[in-house]
Amino acid sequence: MERSECATRCLAVDPGQPETAPVREAGAVLRRGGLVAFPTETVYGLGANALDAQAVANIFRAKGRPADNPLIVHMDSFAALGKYILEMPAVVSALAEKFWPGPLTLVLRGNRSFPPVVTGGLSTVAVRVPAHPVALALLREAGVPVAAPSANASGRPSPTTASHVLEDLAGRIDLVLDGGPAGLGLESTVLDLTGQCPVILRPGGITRPDLEAVLGPVELDPSVNGAPAGDRPRSPGMKYKHYAPRAPLVLFEGDSSGQVAAAIYAEAQRLEAGGKRVGILACSETAPLYRGFDVVVTGRCSDSGSIAASLYDSLRRFDRLDVDIILAEGVAPRGLGLAVMNRLRRAAGDRIVRI
Ligand code: TXA
Ligand code: MG
Repeated sequence: MERSECATRCLAVDPGQPETAPVREAGAVLRRGGLVAFPTETVYGLGANALDAQAVANIFRAKGRPADNPLIVHMDSFAALGKYILEMPAVVSALAEKFWPGPLTLVLRGNRSFPPVVTGGLSTVAVRVPAHPVALALLREAGVPVAAPSANASGRPSPTTASHVLEDLAGRIDLVLDGGPAGLGLESTVLDLTGQCPVILRPGGITRPDLEAVLGPVELDPSVNGAPAGDRPRSPGMKYKHYAPRAPLVLFEGDSSGQVAAAIYAEAQRLEAGGKRVGILACSETAPLYRGFDVVVTGRCSDSGSIAASLYDSLRRFDRLDVDIILAEGVAPRGLGLAVMNRLRRAAGDRIVRI
């Protein structure tokens, strides 16, 4: 099915039967140097042939992405990886066996097969095998490794539906494959395997305990919990503001959800009295406490998976509500909650209130 209102062509694909004409066409677009947005099990990606420097440069142009922020290369199998890396640490096959296809990105020493525009000139390369059937079918069809950042305009919340992609990139890319909502809702875990100890550079769907069960101790890069990344962070993406809706977002963190809610309510009343239109990001358990304000519910407090799945859509909803400021509840930074808090802290920048 083709939707004629798309300035960029938008083709629907049934994830249950992905081997269809739209995916064949998308593979051909990638092979001839075009840009294709496609669903993954985390968020939608914006793909280009990773061996084609010009095509990859067009990703940066379409997104408005800083050139020193390297891309993840997507492959259809673990077997495809050997061709592009300098050495294969023993743990890689154990991790691949357990977590691929899936939301785990590995940073490894590259053999410089990819043009510098992919790696931001680094000697390392980030790789993953995605689990979404449409992504895998597209990678097989393209027959080349595919560099793909999230398919949003740089700095905006990542897209979890084809319409989010079109909101940001219509007219700037060749094709969107619409496979319905992405699964997890947050980007993959990025794990750096190039040092003495494995380091999580970005928390995501595969949690620290999941990784430690295979690897033993795994460190968290200080930027994960919001420490300033400095000029030369290990993950270049960490130095940029991210995931932000248009209105400024203030994050309220604390151990007691009752105290957090009381602080948000008091601040919302104060701001409203000053003439501001206030949006509140809350979970379903606490939402009734904020009657009278523009509340967007992002899942259940007791289930970080439900919050992860709707977080980015919730942030985009505030743009449509046209609020002046967003007050957001934090969640417990455990399991997937660590990834949720990492994204909320980065959306907040330095506007964090600790209760
Ligand atoms: O789930 C995901 O990972 C999605 C889907 C589309 O696969 N992709 C994604 O890509 O989130 P992007 O470009 O939005 O985020 C890639 C992150 C950035 O923080 C980047 O700095 C980091 O990975 N990265 C890429 N290559 C790296 C490298 N060689 N060393 C350290 N960090 C790297
Ligand atoms: Mg991104």
